[in-house]
Amino acid sequence: MGCAISGLAAKADFGEKTTDDSCAARPSEAQIQMIKDSWKVIRDDIAKVGIIMFVRLFETHPECKDVFFLFRDVEDLERLRTNRELRAHGLRVMSFIEKSVARLDQLERLEALALELGKSHYHYNAPPKYYSYVGAEFTCAVQPILKEQWTAELEEAWKTLFQYVTNLMKQGYQEESTRQRQLALSPKDRPEKRNTAL
Ligand code: HEM
Repeated sequence: MGCAISGLAAKADFGEKTTDDSCAARPSEAQIQMIKDSWKVIRDDIAKVGIIMFVRLFETHPECKDVFFLFRDVEDLERLRTNRELRAHGLRVMSFIEKSVARLDQLERLEALALELGKSHYHYNAPPKYYSYVGAEFTCAVQPILKEQWTAELEEAWKTLFQYVTNLMKQGYQEESTRQRQLALSPKDRPEKRNTAL
């Protein structure tokens, strides 16, 4: 399996520690520049990175596989490396990362995007406790592509971006969960309509 997160950066966990939506730091200007530069290299391999990322996610956290209707019954993870649906799914996630990188200079747009993604994950039954794993697997998948360009600072920059995005996703998930609970409660909580017609 390899890659226990490069170890170059301080061993902070990958986003799990904060659930308070106001806590995740925004990437700094210097980090934004590093992320953009490295993305120019990573984007040539996005299909590959997407697959590696998800196969690793299912290896390290098999409980995540159960969330995916299409993959939950696949026992042999090696078969997933050539699976068309996993490739398409990986590409959807990678294109979200691409959009996030493109919005780094307009963080309010990135925030709106990540909040919406969190809301849709409520409907996918994908709970927030799993989101931080994706950033860790992304880091492992891109390291061999970036080779000596991978540094502790770059690792910290990507970690900051993933923490920022996944925290917003968690917030979106929680908002949607609250909204759905209120919708479910509202019919019986609604005051009975009086028939005022005589
Ligand atoms: C950084 C974390 C994650 C990101 C950026 C992400 C991104 C995405 C994106 C872009 C989609 C495509 C559909 C849409 O835009 O709504 C998607 C779909 C989905 N995600 Fe995630 N995701 C993340 C974590 C997870 C985790 C950890 C799970 C499961 C444990 C998960 C389960 C799903 C499922 C079931 C779908 C719908 C099926 C599909 O589109 O193929 N996601 N995700």
